[in-house]
Amino acid sequence: MTKNQEIKKILVTGGAGFIGSHLIETILKKTSSRIVCIDNFDDAYDPRLKQRNIEPFLKNLRFILYKNDIRDLTKMKQIFKKEKPDAIVHLAAKADTRKAVLSPFEYISVNIEGTLNLLECSREFGIKKFVFASSSSVYGNKNSAPFSEEDQTDFPLSPYGASKKAAEILIYTYHHNFNLPAICLRVFNAYGERMRPNLVLPLWLKKMLNGEPIEMSGDGTRRRDFTYVGDTVNAIMLALKKPFDFEIINIGNSRPLTLNQLLHVLEKAAGITATVYKRPSHHASVEQTHASTKKAKHLLGWKPLMPIEKGVKRFVSWARNGGLEDIHKR
Ligand SMILES: NC(=O)c1ccc[n+]([C@@H]2O[C@H](COP(=O)([O-])OP(=O)(O)OC[C@H]3O[C@@H](n4cnc5c(N)ncnc54)[C@H](O)[C@@H]3O)[C@@H](O)[C@H]2O)c1
Repeated sequence: MTKNQEIKKILVTGGAGFIGSHLIETILKKTSSRIVCIDNFDDAYDPRLKQRNIEPFLKNLRFILYKNDIRDLTKMKQIFKKEKPDAIVHLAAKADTRKAVLSPFEYISVNIEGTLNLLECSREFGIKKFVFASSSSVYGNKNSAPFSEEDQTDFPLSPYGASKKAAEILIYTYHHNFNLPAICLRVFNAYGERMRPNLVLPLWLKKMLNGEPIEMSGDGTRRRDFTYVGDTVNAIMLALKKPFDFEIINIGNSRPLTLNQLLHVLEKAAGITATVYKRPSHHASVEQTHASTKKAKHLLGWKPLMPIEKGVKRFVSWARNGGLEDIHKR
């Protein structure tokens, strides 16, 4: 964001979460924009971790927090009326592919109806830019790679992926009917400090640090396009800065690793050899994710900068400094 083009006020939903807290940190550090954060501190994982994520921002006069559910349209409208944001980064979501299979109603309610509420507020209050965190899950199981934005997305494996696809389509209709400038970033496997504790890196590292065996899904040959959260945040910053009508853009490292390779990187970074036991892969877990970043390079001028070895080292050092400690022990 150059000084002249800077957005005055950015509303970030899900700002107390993993990607949201990194985004807010970057915006507060690198711009003079104000932040309105809406988060309901849901119990998808320990809400005290989210409280800890946003703790450093609470004293900043350019930051305001609303503990609210995006599904409460009346309250959302009150916040928009009071705060008059210029742009939205919509990150709030239920985000667990596997849990979504057994709790689809909640996923549809938060991820689709919640998004619809934000779109309605955007229309009513004249929002100038809507940035949405979509997901690589929309691609489902694909044999060919890398995944391009033009590829078929009619067969996601989980209601989570289905909800993200539905949200993208809804956003398009608001662009078409109300000229809402919108950009859907299909985020691929973000990792890094403060990441959700129920994802593979924190689950493994915590066990390894405690000398316990780790679980490997299947034979460890599934590939994931692990992308450092700082790179994901850079893409969101560029999406805020550049003018757009409507776009869908992949944000991924484009260098997928098998789970076995990831474990090797983690073992090296931590200096610990893990004891591994295997469990069957989940039925809603895709074989691979692999982003084509051509469009991101072309339209955003974005490319991933963090090598996985270095990103995982940062994650390990954060964990060793207490990042993975249970919050009640602190
Ligand atoms: N982390 C990834 O690898 C990844 C990959 C693809 C897409 N995404 C998307 O990026 C976004 C952020 O993901 P994250 O990894 O930071 O997850 P996260 O769970 O850490 O953050 C999501 C935040 O949304 C909040 N939230 C949930 N329901 C809400 C509601 N009804 N009202 C208000 N707030 C609510 C949660 O409390 C949480 O703080 C999500 O939309 C997710 O689907 C993430």
